[in-house]
Amino acid sequence: MMDGGEDPGGLPRHVAIIMDGNGRWANARNLPRSVGHERGVEALRKTVEGAREIGLTHLTVFSFSTENWRRPVSEVNALFGLLKMYVSQDLNKLKADGVRIRVLGTRTGLPDDIRALVEQAQNETCDNDRFHLCIAFNYGGREEIMRAARQLASDAIAGIADIDSFNEDTFGEYLDTAGLPDPDLVIRTSGEMRISNFLIWQAAYAELVFLDVLWPAFRPKHLREAITSYQARQRRFGGLAAGTL
Ligand code: IPE
Ligand code: IPE
Ligand code: MG
Repeated sequence: MMDGGEDPGGLPRHVAIIMDGNGRWANARNLPRSVGHERGVEALRKTVEGAREIGLTHLTVFSFSTENWRRPVSEVNALFGLLKMYVSQDLNKLKADGVRIRVLGTRTGLPDDIRALVEQAQNETCDNDRFHLCIAFNYGGREEIMRAARQLASDAIAGIADIDSFNEDTFGEYLDTAGLPDPDLVIRTSGEMRISNFLIWQAAYAELVFLDVLWPAFRPKHLREAITSYQARQRRFGGLAAGTL
């Protein structure tokens, strides 16, 4: 759906964040990269709290990409360990706070214990609807679209999907974000100005904000700044500005 926020000038319905710069944050302090990732989890906790206080309802964070498998095994293992730690330590609190957790991305390649934890977190929070936290883990936009296309082709062959009536909205139901609004605002920390295969379908018309802060140093005030910058934008979705003659 590319209908944009229902509340012009108000809060974005869905904010997505590319949490980048953990390694550089650690490097600048002569610490191992893994410490940067640990401090990144702290920044994530503060961000989720901040987002709830601001009144956001949908937050997606990019925490491990399908391309991140190119990193050394030790770093990949450290990142898996941190996901496990975050979900297992915070699940009860998130649950009590009315947070629904969804993990975006392919389960292929994930160790069994991580898969089990992901299923548990999703199942135990599936009745919550106050705040939607999506964790993109083992996620790549192209992989997600390919997987959706494969499932669609298989449903078409099985006679479950009717290809002639297929449109953008029905295709969206095959994506990991099915049922969620498209992100209105995508934030990337660390100063890099690229999308790195994140939500490439869903963020087709998102506003982009690139911040120079490295992820472990990200605080709710940076989130508020990004939202203020979003609120000053004029979203046109290919049309004309309101009031244009
Ligand atoms: C973001 O920080 C975390 C992941 C991509 C998993 P990086 O690890 O990419 O940190 P930099 O970009 O090397 O500083
Ligand atoms: C994007 O960051 C992925 C995550 C934040 C999980 P990367 O650090 O992997 O992206 P590139 O390699 O700079 O594009
Ligand atoms: Mg990076």
